[in-house]
Amino acid sequence: MEIFRTKSVEQSIRDTEEPEHRLHKRLSAVDLTVFGIGVIIGTGIFVLTGRVAKESAGPAVALSFVVAGVVCALAALCYAEFASTVPVAGSAYTFSFATLGEFPAWVIGWDLMLEMALAGAVVAVGWSGYFSSLIASMGIHLPASIADAESGFINIPAMVIVALLTAILYAGIKLSSRVNLVIVVIKVSVVLLVIIAGLFFVKAANYTPFIPPAESTAGVSGLKAPLIQVLFGITPVAFGVIGIFSAAAIVFFAFIGFDIVATAAEETIEPQRDLPRGIIGSLLICTVLYVAVSLVVVGMQPYSQLSEKAPLADAFAAVGQTWAATLISIGAIAGLTTVVMILMLGQTRVLFAMCRDGLLPRGLAKVHPRYGTPATITLLVGGVTMLLSGFISLGALAELVNIGTLFAFVVVSIGVVILRRTRPDLPRSFRTPLVPWVPALSVLACVYLMLNLPVETWLRFVVWMIIGVVVYFLYGYRHSRVANAPKP
Ligand code: ALA
Repeated sequence: MEIFRTKSVEQSIRDTEEPEHRLHKRLSAVDLTVFGIGVIIGTGIFVLTGRVAKESAGPAVALSFVVAGVVCALAALCYAEFASTVPVAGSAYTFSFATLGEFPAWVIGWDLMLEMALAGAVVAVGWSGYFSSLIASMGIHLPASIADAESGFINIPAMVIVALLTAILYAGIKLSSRVNLVIVVIKVSVVLLVIIAGLFFVKAANYTPFIPPAESTAGVSGLKAPLIQVLFGITPVAFGVIGIFSAAAIVFFAFIGFDIVATAAEETIEPQRDLPRGIIGSLLICTVLYVAVSLVVVGMQPYSQLSEKAPLADAFAAVGQTWAATLISIGAIAGLTTVVMILMLGQTRVLFAMCRDGLLPRGLAKVHPRYGTPATITLLVGGVTMLLSGFISLGALAELVNIGTLFAFVVVSIGVVILRRTRPDLPRSFRTPLVPWVPALSVLACVYLMLNLPVETWLRFVVWMIIGVVVYFLYGYRHSRVANAPKP
């Protein structure tokens, strides 16, 4: 069928060489790893750790990070093989075009928009919250009407940070990666401070019981219930071994971002060698940091007393170290800044690839003659993210980001197996081990986490995808370059 027409890997690579649509190659393996860390460490560790320890895992939250890390590692091995075989902007979108065909590729591109644009806006709103509370501690109080779209009217700090980051992205990838490097150093220093300084306040008693006994919860019903509960009639349980796994579905958010490293494929000097290193390296470093931070934090305070908004800072405040609390808030603000920036970067590169293929207006995929960035698309993505973060209350939509990302992981894992069958001849500088077992396990693990998400998240996801299908048949199907290419 026509909608399953594929674009050969060779064609994808040739497209990157057209002068008008060529991105500048500037990034090394270290740049990519720093990029990865810049986008991975964010809301997940700075905020979710407390909520999850308190509500479902207790001190064993550290094990939840291990579980989520393992799920991501399985997917990362698949991403690494793809990125080293098809080093073209667009990540999962481009991989799918080469294996599953145009329509599945469109679906995944549309899905990635959900992941990145929405996540960028969600984290910008989180940034604004930290920023407001930090300047409040200096005596400057922003009225909620202009700093919170939920209880007020508009979120100006969120819009300002998005505008600033858009300007940086517009001005070139190397500048973005320099800004990112500085901020990552601050962020990782703060994380190390939590680990090292926190060790002095750890009390062994806080670790017992390490896995609190399971208790059944009142349960959530209707649209808020996890799909798995509705499908199989499972009663929700907090704590115990099951609690570790349900917490893993939530802290999965903390790992989102290593996949975005693959979107910078075309700007990498030696993508075949460096992309796998960047993807796996950043994931590994973050997993180690997460496990260490969570072990320290649950050792500093009984898990039932951890704060849900700022667990790391508040754990230090609770032991009388307010200086550390302020430093951690500054680190969190810095950390969230790069998360927003790189999510927007990833979004522009996927959109760029989709426009270049003619599935969206091709005129948008022009590269700025001086800066070498997809300028129009950068402004477009910046504008939409600004509006989303400034006017819409996004808290409830954050889980959509998880489902969108997990869906992309599933497709990429399947794609690896397909490409091995259809194009065994392609040079693969990185090979996923134990194919098809690792990809199969990756699919199962991701689907399991998806099933743990609420019914309303699934409904929103399905609605977004239906809109995407309509847009494809109205526009992309007819304008696709692959469809209009002269037949050999
Ligand atoms: N992993 C990113 C975060 O935790 C999205 O904020």
